[in-house]
Amino acid sequence: MCGIVGYHGPRQATDVLLGGLARLEYRGYDSAGIAVIGDYGIALLRRTGKLHHLAEAVSASPVTGTVGIGHTRWATHGRPTEENAHPHADCTGAIAVVHNGIIENYLDLREELAATGHVLRSETDTETVAHLVESYYEGDLAAAVARAVKRLHGSYAIAVVHAGEPGTIVAARQDSPLVIGLGKGETIIASDIPVLLDYTREVLVLEDGDVACVTAAGVVVRGADGAVREPERIHVEWDLAAAEKCGYETFMLKEIHEQPTAIRETLRGRMGADGIIQVSELAMSEAQIAAIDRVLIIACGTSYHAGIVAKTLIEQWARVPVEVDVSSEFRYRDPIIDAATLVVAITQSGETADTLAGVREARKNGAKAFAITNVVGSRITRESDGVIYTHAGPEIGVAATKTFTAQIAAITVLALKIAQARGALEQTRIASIWDEVSRLPETVEAVLCSADDIEACAREYTDVVSSLFLGRGIGVAVAMEGALKLKEISYVHAEAYPAGEMKHGPIALITDEVPVVVVATQGRTYEKVVSNIQEVRARGARVIAVATHGDDEIRKHAEHVLYVPRTSEEVSAIPATIPLQLLAYHIAALRGCNVDQPRNLAKSVTVE
Ligand code: F6R
Repeated sequence: MCGIVGYHGPRQATDVLLGGLARLEYRGYDSAGIAVIGDYGIALLRRTGKLHHLAEAVSASPVTGTVGIGHTRWATHGRPTEENAHPHADCTGAIAVVHNGIIENYLDLREELAATGHVLRSETDTETVAHLVESYYEGDLAAAVARAVKRLHGSYAIAVVHAGEPGTIVAARQDSPLVIGLGKGETIIASDIPVLLDYTREVLVLEDGDVACVTAAGVVVRGADGAVREPERIHVEWDLAAAEKCGYETFMLKEIHEQPTAIRETLRGRMGADGIIQVSELAMSEAQIAAIDRVLIIACGTSYHAGIVAKTLIEQWARVPVEVDVSSEFRYRDPIIDAATLVVAITQSGETADTLAGVREARKNGAKAFAITNVVGSRITRESDGVIYTHAGPEIGVAATKTFTAQIAAITVLALKIAQARGALEQTRIASIWDEVSRLPETVEAVLCSADDIEACAREYTDVVSSLFLGRGIGVAVAMEGALKLKEISYVHAEAYPAGEMKHGPIALITDEVPVVVVATQGRTYEKVVSNIQEVRARGARVIAVATHGDDEIRKHAEHVLYVPRTSEEVSAIPATIPLQLLAYHIAALRGCNVDQPRNLAKSVTVE
């Protein structure tokens, strides 16, 4: 939610800031703005809507200067107007601030500031930061910011400039992501790593409470106690191409096609030569893993759907009971947790506020909490007892695709590990499951080869207003994910249900105008799914079935069949998801929707 960027170096700041904001636009696109320190103070430019409006304004009135900050907004406090767009200035216009996060006590601060004569012009929480810094400023911007952030409750990643200190940017963070790239004679501040990759791969990761002062002499970081400290420094391995479209029309399409690689990388090195599944990140002995008597999974959105797949696999293979909770419910429901409960938080971004809060709640109650995430150095990696990384590379499209299937790959490994440690599966069975799992990248490639057929199918459903997605067993999670993809990028209403539940209510929705997408791959409940298809067809629905290659029979029951290669039921979630991603993608694209940046959404949800 919101992206911030800062530049200090020899280049023209506007070029770097606009380029950086373009890479951050997935975090929010309600408005954008920059503040650049020039010869005559701070030049501030803000525009509502997509970034190109700001870029047009910059080219109409160029701004020169080599130090500046920028912001792309996902509105929380205040409408997406120009007054509410960042950067926000203090009363004098000498200070400018960009912010990602939420200042929870901003109303109290506004009142206090107004009472001491400050004039606040926007409806935002962020503007209070600019005025607080103004009130504490005594000729040292870093010191003023350090005092100001002590007054803030909530989450923030901020970057601040002052016209009186034209060679300085001060940045600070608490519960919102912020990284600093160290280039040759230049420093870039950003919410996310892809912004930095044009300039450097050397990255400083700030901790909560840190205040960083960037000048020509380098970066000085002080912790919450005010003492200078050495922040963690990482070398980013990603290729810049991973953060670009590489000839695809959209990031989402590129990311759908990157799934074979994402899955391959996530599975790499997980099966030892001795047949032992490797998950050293758990930092638990085989005996400790065997002693796990309950698993609790917390996640949101698409990651929650990966959690439902995890429940099926862990329960089936390891025979350990699993609960899956939406993080925002888990954190407030006073959950029953103890030391024998393994808590697994699934979050591609590693920044989802509710999932982070859930992890804190679990650890407070004595449980070990592990994270499955895609972002190295993200907040969840600092708050968990261990991290299993998915290696999907940066995902820029707001709708999760490759991170979802990579999460399922990671979960499959975890489920097999617990099953192996508990002796719940024969070693020969583990070997045969692994054989199938390790072929998943090729299986997905085979599904991607039928992308044209899926597009042809999508063409027949572009005018749809409402749809139903059905599945059984692991297919329920796939149906839920398919429905979420369709609704979030095409704005077509889509509801997912366990197929057996349909006749308890949702069947009333069926008409010949409500297509039904059914996950009907081979498995224990296949016959039952076919019966459910007949029930909806009897009521006039057109059916799109996801089915297993070789199942010709299903053609009698469905208008369209999207085939996937044969796998065991347990391994079917990944291949069955791909056609639904592509179906949603093409319906959305044909309807003219911006699939990479759907309305009202942002890539990481750092607010409750
Ligand atoms: C949907 C989507 C969201 C996220 C959800 C959780 O395509 O991307 O539903 O899955 O916001 O995000 P993470 O996984 O970052 O915690």
